[in-house]
Amino acid sequence: MLIFAASDKGGTGRSVTSCNIAYHLSMQRNDVAYLDFDFGSPTTGAIFEISKVERGTEQNGLHSYVEGKTNTPHQVDVLANSDRAGLRAPPSRAGSSCCPATRAARSSPTSPRRSSAA
Ligand SMILES: Nc1ncnc2c1ncn2[C@@H]1O[C@H](COP(=O)(O)OP(=O)(O)OP(=O)(O)O)[C@@H](O)[C@H]1O
Ligand SMILES: [Mg+2]
Repeated sequence: MLIFAASDKGGTGRSVTSCNIAYHLSMQRNDVAYLDFDFGSPTTGAIFEISKVERGTEQNGLHSYVEGKTNTPHQVDVLANSDRAGLRAPPSRAGSSCCPATRAARSSPTSPRRSSAA
């Protein structure tokens, strides 16, 4: 199952809603991958409270993958790396990971419009 969250306007709640959906699907023992295509303002790490990718990742983010610069985008296990204790000790140890956007990609001329990302 693929779920896309897109809007032509920022600040409409895509990231928060998407993270909530990902979390609840993982609690139902689904393997979930959250892909943050917001290259202008990546917030996945902040919402899941993963400090090392709070503002995206420096290398091998999704932008690098889309451009063919890496075959393996940076992936972070949310349940293992979140600073939030409640996320690290879920009722059932379901799989949940996220792929943050590349922080350095913000100024790239090939970056998709910010409005197309979650
Ligand atoms: N259901 C909700 N009720 C109240 N506030 C919300 C709700 N969903 C999101 N918000 C708030 O609205 C703001 C924007 O939410 P969010 O970052 O998810 O939007 P976005 O569409 O991903 O925006 P961005 O363009 O910044 O990526 C945040 O401050 C968030 O806390
Ligand atoms: Mg967002």
